[in-house]
Amino acid sequence: MSNQRSAEPIHEHHGHPMTNSHILVQEFEYVEPASLDEAVSLLVEYGGRAQLLAGGTNLLVQMKMERLAPDCVINVGHLPELSGVAPTDGGLRLGALTKIRALRNAPLVQAEYAALAEACAAFGSAQIQMMGTLGGNLCNGSPASDSVPALMAFDAQLRLVGPAGERTLPVEEFLLGPGQTALQDGEILVDVQLPRPRAGTGSAFIKISRVAADLAKASVAVVLVREGDRVVDCRLTFGSVGPTVLRARRAEAVLAGNPFSAELALEAGQIAAEEVLPIDDVRSTAWYRREVVKALTYDVLQAAWKRAEGDKGTRGQGDKETRGHGDKGTRDTEHGTRDTFRIAPEEECLIELTVNGVGYEIFVAPNELLLNVLRERLELTGTKYGCGVGECGACTVHIDGVPALACLTLAVAVDGSEILTVEGLASPDGELDPLQEAFIEQNAFQCGYCMPCMLMMTKSLFFDIPAPTEDDVRDYLKGNRCRCTGFASIVRAVMASVGEAE
Ligand SMILES: Cc1cc2nc3c(=O)[nH]c(=O)nc-3n(C[C@H](O)[C@H](O)[C@H](O)COP(=O)(O)OP(=O)(O)OC[C@H]3O[C@@H](n4cnc5c(N)ncnc54)[C@H](O)[C@@H]3O)c2cc1C
Ligand code: FES
Ligand code: FES
Repeated sequence: MSNQRSAEPIHEHHGHPMTNSHILVQEFEYVEPASLDEAVSLLVEYGGRAQLLAGGTNLLVQMKMERLAPDCVINVGHLPELSGVAPTDGGLRLGALTKIRALRNAPLVQAEYAALAEACAAFGSAQIQMMGTLGGNLCNGSPASDSVPALMAFDAQLRLVGPAGERTLPVEEFLLGPGQTALQDGEILVDVQLPRPRAGTGSAFIKISRVAADLAKASVAVVLVREGDRVVDCRLTFGSVGPTVLRARRAEAVLAGNPFSAELALEAGQIAAEEVLPIDDVRSTAWYRREVVKALTYDVLQAAWKRAEGDKGTRGQGDKETRGHGDKGTRDTEHGTRDTFRIAPEEECLIELTVNGVGYEIFVAPNELLLNVLRERLELTGTKYGCGVGECGACTVHIDGVPALACLTLAVAVDGSEILTVEGLASPDGELDPLQEAFIEQNAFQCGYCMPCMLMMTKSLFFDIPAPTEDDVRDYLKGNRCRCTGFASIVRAVMASVGEAE
């Protein structure tokens, strides 16, 4: 790729004043390393002033909020060493770049690691699931990271590569506090190793949040091993109720070795509520969190106990046969062998995009967002700027067939991609997509900020879940944050289109 991308001095697209999250005001060097070793060397070279870019759903928000200001952004999203989901002799290997959506949909994860599949199903919006990676979820070090309670309950091991070589850490030792991990200078998380569950294992995850696509007020995961009527082993973990995801070891000890009963589950919940360390914050109060831990513990134990009865193939919540977006978005194999690409903050480079079937060559700066390229450079204003931080869905487009938020996507990172915007749904002669016709027929109208997202997500829904239920539709569209109306007519229009899409 790099040979075709000439870097030229930038003149007109720098120096925007930072007025809101519409643009990324910070300037930084942008690098796509050719190998994992090179990525490590770059981190060392920058000595803490560089940030890795995987899905960008956390990093770009932090940069827009001016909580992070890296001198260099190192895009590792194409490195094959960090990719893939594959069974191993001891269990399952999950590359750090594995998308949350791909995990949710992976049959092996659903069958053997139900708690993890459920955590991924409960994660943000469909768009965030399709962009966000497992590695990013672990490395941002948030106590609210949804994948982490399940990973800790399964005793996941993390493989880290850095200047001193390779080391493996249990996830429990990786998380040190809010936003703090055991990553040392220059270290990169390569993959997550999940041990194969013993016979008789059951697992479950439950999250409670203010609205469907929000971070957890509290979450819980359990992995227990059942022999007859007894719990012989148990790991019980909680998110969003402490400075980091934590284990309730006293509650685990009460369960292990004892016959399972409703009373035992209640007792474990009571003890877990004493063990957690919640705080008051914008999402909940410490009091509520402690109270809800009791109920969550009871429910999660009942669910895992039932699953441990025999059928390890129990599916996670909301899981069904899908074709699955998520893996597709990484484009790793295609780009696995490319050369290093490096562009300085004051430079811009030529990228090629196919947008709605039309090819463009555009010079972009490292900090230019796909949203700005589409709206301001190509004048495709159907893609909207709403929140600018991943929450409203108004900027949803398809990148190589996968929904993505253009407000959290660096244009330089999608060089060579095919982009579909709402303008591209109709045919060139103006004939509307059957989906658009169905929306009109059902009077499914929302404002100009909401409609593009609704249409782009529905278009993708029929690929992902060919025969969706109403619950699937609501779940898939939950990333559209309308502030003023209901979704009833939208859901009706989508359901009316099901037959036509098949
Ligand atoms: C609107 C919205 C809703 C969200 N909802 C949820 C939710 O419900 N649950 C939840 O858990 N999270 C949620 N998130 C947070 C975020 O989407 C996830 O944490 C996601 O998994 C981050 O992955 P990413 O690939 O986008 O990370 P990035 O933003 O690319 O990276 C995050 C951080 O990790 C570092 N990093 C990334 N990969 C590696 C690696 N391999 N080795 C070392 N360091 C690395 C980066 O340098 C960066 O500092 C939400 C975010 C938004 C914007
Ligand atoms: S503008 Fe991108 S999600 Fe709101
Ligand atoms: S219809 Fe768009 S915000 Fe409510």
